[in-house]
Amino acid sequence: MKTLAVVGSQWGDEGKGKIVDLLAADADIVVRFQGGNNAAHTLVVNGERFVLRLVPAGALYQGKICVIANGTVVDPIALLDEITELKRRGHLKDDELLKLSSEAHMVMPYHRAIDRAREARLGKSAIGTTGFGIGPAYEDKMARVGLRFDDLADFDAFAQKLQRNIRDKNAYLKTVLKAKPVAAAPLVSQMRAVRSRLLRYVCDTSRFLQEAIASGKRVLFEGAHGIMLDIDHGTYPFVTSSNCGVSAVFSGCGIAPNSLDGVLGISKAYATRVGGGPFPTEISGRLADMMREEGNEFGSATGRPRRIGWFDAVLTRHAVRLNGMWRIALTKLDVLTGLDPVKICVAYQIRGRTLDQVPDSHLLGKVKPVYESLPGWSESISSARSLSDLPVNARRYLQRLQELCGVGLAMVGVGASREATIVVDNPFHDGSDNSNNIAVTNG
Ligand code: GDP
Ligand code: IMO
Ligand code: MG
Repeated sequence: MKTLAVVGSQWGDEGKGKIVDLLAADADIVVRFQGGNNAAHTLVVNGERFVLRLVPAGALYQGKICVIANGTVVDPIALLDEITELKRRGHLKDDELLKLSSEAHMVMPYHRAIDRAREARLGKSAIGTTGFGIGPAYEDKMARVGLRFDDLADFDAFAQKLQRNIRDKNAYLKTVLKAKPVAAAPLVSQMRAVRSRLLRYVCDTSRFLQEAIASGKRVLFEGAHGIMLDIDHGTYPFVTSSNCGVSAVFSGCGIAPNSLDGVLGISKAYATRVGGGPFPTEISGRLADMMREEGNEFGSATGRPRRIGWFDAVLTRHAVRLNGMWRIALTKLDVLTGLDPVKICVAYQIRGRTLDQVPDSHLLGKVKPVYESLPGWSESISSARSLSDLPVNARRYLQRLQELCGVGLAMVGVGASREATIVVDNPFHDGSDNSNNIAVTNG
């Protein structure tokens, strides 16, 4: 393959960053196409830990081009902070390596203020957003009052639009949300001060990507969040405010569907969720605490403890179907070591009926999972680099996941660092199997 999209199959934090970083070794360009700094993608390379929010996970290699495309919403200050930190650590040395779409929308402090004030007002029914203003920024985009990076070219016109927005948002903050307004003058001055630092990255990324694809470059599209957080197909309203599946690649980059060769889904070997909303396989108590500690399941963006559950094959089938997934990269198999049995949700039950598909969002919170229990393994698997290095029960677990999800595995994660991965099939390597072969676990 030349062009590949990587998307989350669960509720985010599946380990997309780690897999994109691994695949980026063979890519020329890595692209973020939706979401904002509500994403937090953790990379562990040569013992160093990096958390990327906006910059794509190609940034740790010399010479790879990172693109933040038009479908994203970008907090300009957060982006500059991230760039500064990456430069300090020896990356993104050349400004030509980062391209920011002129059509991407900005996240402003009033978006954050609205996000937080609304969540506070919702109390117990809060969505549990990251509080980074993502929803309000996408709202402004759709309401056609958003600020885009191309607006910075004429700063006076930009400042007028910004002041109009601050006026409107402050009225809403004060009268409806009973929250503190945002000070206009310091924000305008701050944007004036950072304008030239941002403009050096701004360009027409749609044209750049189209030309790169036409000339045969390898392009990796890095999804954020996960399909169950998708604004249309997720557990609405407990979702984020963008489409998180493969469809967003095309609108979010300005490229045609026939320029994408394949979709790789990322799934954990169990499930997690941050924030509110239904989670059929959620578990609590000592087992959940152990898995949270072992898997270090604390949000990289907000530090919140992640909710924990067993692998849900019903949801994963849904993710595979919605995204036309070629294969799945299964991460964090090592976290299941020592558990016996390991469980997989194979169906749901509701009102005496068994469902093998995801029901409407309002019913998902009411279903009871039907589990299949498999024998566990106790041997450490962190040094496994091929499927044959795994204990037989781990291989059985993988085989059963593949059968239940109807899709083969491309990779299996056995640790947080880049090299702690079993690569079954690298889509960028010659001889990669383009079929949906699922008989791969005995290799
Ligand atoms: P993303 O948002 O999908 O990129 O995922 P996050 O980075 O938010 O969360 C995944 C966490 O699991 C990070 O701390 C990764 O370093 C870590 N991780 C990724 N793959 C593996 C794996 O196979 N095993 C272990 N133990 N940790 C992993
Ligand atoms: P990555 O890319 C996990 C969740 C939030 C909240 C809901 C809405 O790291 O996988 P938002 O701030 O987007 O309006 O919050 O979506 N959420 C994520 N959960 N990983 C993410 O991204 C997430 N991005 C948003 O916790 O429940
Ligand atoms: Mg994350």
